[in-house]
Amino acid sequence: MAQRETWATRTGFILAAVGSAVGLGNIWRFPFLVGQEGGAAFLVVYLLFVALIGFPAMLVEFVVGRRTNRNPVGALKELGGGVWQYLGWVFAATGFIILSYYSVVGGWVLRYVLIGLQGGYVGDIEGAGGQFVEAASGLDAVLGHAIFMAAVIAIVGFGIRRGIEFAVQVMVPAIILIAFGLAVYAFTLPGASEAYAFYLSPDVGEILANWTDILPAAAGQAFFTLSLGMGAMITYASYIGDDRNLAEDGLIIVGLDTLIAFTAGLIVFPIFFTGGVDPANTIGAGAIFISLAAALGDLSFGWLIGTVFFGTIAIAALSSAISLLEVVVSYLIDERGMERFTATAIVGTIIFVVGIPTALDLVFIDLYDLFANNILLVFGGLMVSIFVGWVISNVALDEIGRGVRNLGSWGDVWIWLVRIPVIVILFVTIYLGVFEYYEFLTGDFADWLGQNL
Ligand code: TRP
Repeated sequence: MAQRETWATRTGFILAAVGSAVGLGNIWRFPFLVGQEGGAAFLVVYLLFVALIGFPAMLVEFVVGRRTNRNPVGALKELGGGVWQYLGWVFAATGFIILSYYSVVGGWVLRYVLIGLQGGYVGDIEGAGGQFVEAASGLDAVLGHAIFMAAVIAIVGFGIRRGIEFAVQVMVPAIILIAFGLAVYAFTLPGASEAYAFYLSPDVGEILANWTDILPAAAGQAFFTLSLGMGAMITYASYIGDDRNLAEDGLIIVGLDTLIAFTAGLIVFPIFFTGGVDPANTIGAGAIFISLAAALGDLSFGWLIGTVFFGTIAIAALSSAISLLEVVVSYLIDERGMERFTATAIVGTIIFVVGIPTALDLVFIDLYDLFANNILLVFGGLMVSIFVGWVISNVALDEIGRGVRNLGSWGDVWIWLVRIPVIVILFVTIYLGVFEYYEFLTGDFADWLGQNL
């Protein structure tokens, strides 16, 4: 059997994981959640969850991947056998669904780069809303989806070193540099101080009053933004060749991801406040597109800022999408003996087809996103945490200690964070997620079916 691939360098692995983590979740989803959930109050809870839930859960996935050097299905079969191997299937299915609409949103982003180049952002909310509806569904959206998916297939098809590692070495530094540059620009806007007040002064009363909304939203976001819950980090860690400090790598990855999300807020909110857009109204999938276009249309050089900003989002989305595809591809290579390029092309094409409905009607984005995000991801994260925290904790403790000079009692701190807080919070989140999905299915979605069938 051919030798399995590995990352060429430690930096290569870290950049790939940062590339996976930093994506639409940071720049598209995070600001609209902050806007919708009350600004700084949400930010505080989110930061807390990233540290207490996200970081330990990332180490859970790293341990499973590096221990086995296999794809998620194979890894869980090797470590757990029995029913645990089916968890790998849940992961693959989740990745499939997420990528199918993630790519459609990636296509919208490409479209907004083009609109910027043509100087076409419409400067008022209503007009910008119409512009979004036109760009988001229909043949153009399918085309954008196809172009985005083709880029994902090309990178993953070239493999770990020549494809993914090579691509992220260019993309990730570019994302970081441009994001900082845009934040400095946003600082000079007249709406900046009002924006910082909204974004950075938490109101404890607000957290207490709205905790049933804020908690699950913050937990779900912490998971999504760190690419947890579907084996992406298991897969990337399975290509680590030697033993090095996983906790240290994880800290860098979580730190950079959080920094970029935070920076996205520093960019977006000053633009909103300067353009007279209320962040509390930026709800739903179209939020960032509509609000940004409306605000940018009013700024001098708004087209240029928008082109650069949406261009950065496109790169970030691409470096995340490749990790979603790699989960399924690694399974086909490891377990089915398929050749990489064939596996990539076949799976990529099927995912493209599955995503087409979401490019034709916005209601399907919610149908896919709520299910995959609020239910499947959280379920996957919950199960793998139970598995590592309670079933194979001795193996996990041994693995987390490899490459670490002096672990002390940190291993126990980690395993107990996984055993109780991570599991409890994920359980509550999934409970609330199922209710929300039921409401959606019997509400908005039923209405849509009633009107269209
Ligand atoms: N983390 C990415 C983002 O913030 C999305 C993503 C990539 C992802 N791979 C994932 C989410 C795996 C969950 C699981 O946009």
